[in-house]
Amino acid sequence: MAEENIIILGIESSCDDTSVAVSLNSKILSNVVSSQVIHSNYGGVVPELASRAHEKNIIPVVDRAIKESGIELKDLDAIAFTRGPGLLGSLLVGTSFAKSLGLALNKPIIDVHHMKAHILAHFIEQENKQMPTFPFLCLTVSGGHTQIVLIKDHLDMEIIGSTIDDAAGEAFDKGAKILGLNYPGGPLIDKMSKNGNPDKYKFAKPKVKGYDFSFSGLKTSFLYFIQKQTKENPDFIKQEINHLCAGLQKTIVDILIDRLCEVSKDLGIKKIAIAGGVSANSGLRNALKKLEEIDGFDIYIPDFQYCTDNAGMICITAYYQYKAGLFANQNTVCSARI
Ligand code: KG4
Ligand code: ZN
Repeated sequence: MAEENIIILGIESSCDDTSVAVSLNSKILSNVVSSQVIHSNYGGVVPELASRAHEKNIIPVVDRAIKESGIELKDLDAIAFTRGPGLLGSLLVGTSFAKSLGLALNKPIIDVHHMKAHILAHFIEQENKQMPTFPFLCLTVSGGHTQIVLIKDHLDMEIIGSTIDDAAGEAFDKGAKILGLNYPGGPLIDKMSKNGNPDKYKFAKPKVKGYDFSFSGLKTSFLYFIQKQTKENPDFIKQEINHLCAGLQKTIVDILIDRLCEVSKDLGIKKIAIAGGVSANSGLRNALKKLEEIDGFDIYIPDFQYCTDNAGMICITAYYQYKAGLFANQNTVCSARI
């Protein structure tokens, strides 16, 4: 018997991107992302401004996603939304909108965990794309999270290690801020690193027990180093920015890769996926490619558009939850930490 066609509208509003996607089974028909630029003036996401921008964006973004998908609202089988983790005000906009649309259309609603969705983005069907087979490890690296997760099945995951302080994306963004770069600094550091020597400036790596990560010490030592050098030469940052970016990026990537290799060895799993905004980083991608070419790992890197926050990943997660009968209801509440 042919599989039922399931059409889902997904809404992602956990941070500073308003995104809406429409999926047909594991294929994405449309994936619209409206990024909020207003935060770059403030060196970080301002929660109140983010929720106001989501309110303004949500209807036009839903309209565009529906139009681009070629389906009609009545065709939807379910409406999915990010329940958390994220900024509470931002999550509230997506959650309330999804609940209202569900009520108005009399359609079921599905609540999705943002970090699980980043991982399941690997199961979005695309031409010439290989999906990981179970079990595999996923390094999830975003602005708010850094974790190594063991994936046993689509909806069966176990966190093996996490950051005890800052996330990897935060380490990029805070480092960028110290260098006077705009938010989000991760992509800028990545760009500038391409013209820098990663070995010119070296920064100490933390010693953390078990499989956890720590990035706050790196931020502090980077800050002290920059302050000391700028005192001696006020033009230090301007003259050395590419090398400083390359050195910082290499340190962050090395911390991630060292831990990943340790877990992989101990668990005997050489299939590794990456997820979250930092998986767009070219230094991390190159280091993983090396693991594949030299050490025989199987590496899975999502398409660029599915690395940073997007609603396509909400749709694919909701698709598996739909098949498993896992639905939300009008009493479901969003949560900053879940
Ligand atoms: O997953 P994401 O879009 O949002 C969160 O859930 O946090 O991740 C955003 C994070 C930011 O910290 C941003 O600086 C970082 O991902 N990022 C990068 C790159 N692109 C995005 N970091 C380093 N290199 C990049 N190319
Ligand atoms: Zn994210």
